[in-house]
Amino acid sequence: MISLRPASPEDYPEIRYILERAFDQRSEADLVEQLRAGGFDALELVAESGGCLAGHIFYSPLPIEAPSRTVRAAALAPLAVHPDFQRRGIGGALIHMSIPMLAHSGFEAIVVLGHPDYYTRFGFSPDAASSLRHPFPPGPHFMALELDPGVLENFPGQVRYPPPFGL
Ligand SMILES: CC(C)(COP(=O)(O)OP(=O)(O)OC[C@H]1O[C@@H](n2cnc3c(N)ncnc32)[C@H](O)[C@@H]1OP(=O)(O)O)[C@@H](O)C(=O)NCCC(=O)NCCS
Repeated sequence: MISLRPASPEDYPEIRYILERAFDQRSEADLVEQLRAGGFDALELVAESGGCLAGHIFYSPLPIEAPSRTVRAAALAPLAVHPDFQRRGIGGALIHMSIPMLAHSGFEAIVVLGHPDYYTRFGFSPDAASSLRHPFPPGPHFMALELDPGVLENFPGQVRYPPPFGL
């Protein structure tokens, strides 16, 4: 059985292991540790199966700044499921659980850079991010989900990733 819960410091070594296995490199695990160390952790959940961690999702605060106002958004990155546990709905369950938690914490939107075939299943869309200025090549991989409906509509905001992203 899979259960989802907030991550705690005792999970950090196992989270590093999952990230390194899922991405087959160390950079995402390094990024998460730098984000935590800098206080850029908005929400972090894990999926547990039989006493072992199977998945992890991390959000950092991402202000979206325009002259008129700053939208309080969160960046979803990274999301990882251990290869032995993929395609069982764990990644989706982590996303589903985190969305209302972020809304409850006052976040107005979520932004993600990822595969549109995957993230559009959860309500993310390139259209919702279309008025934003961001550091990535144009295309459908940069997506947003409004938690406050309409908050990104025609909003000419610049996304400000936390420094550990190196953007
Ligand atoms: C992406 C990832 C988190 C998905 O987790 P998961 O628990 O396996 O996903 P779910 O079970 O919720 O969903 C599985 C579905 O997503 C699809 N999917 C998984 N990764 C995908 C990708 N990168 N692009 C498009 N579709 C993808 C699968 O094909 C599957 O489709 P199906 O339902 O039609 O069979 C996981 O595969 C992973 O950790 N991958 C390596 C790290 C990574 O790429 N993370 C994303 C960074 S943005």
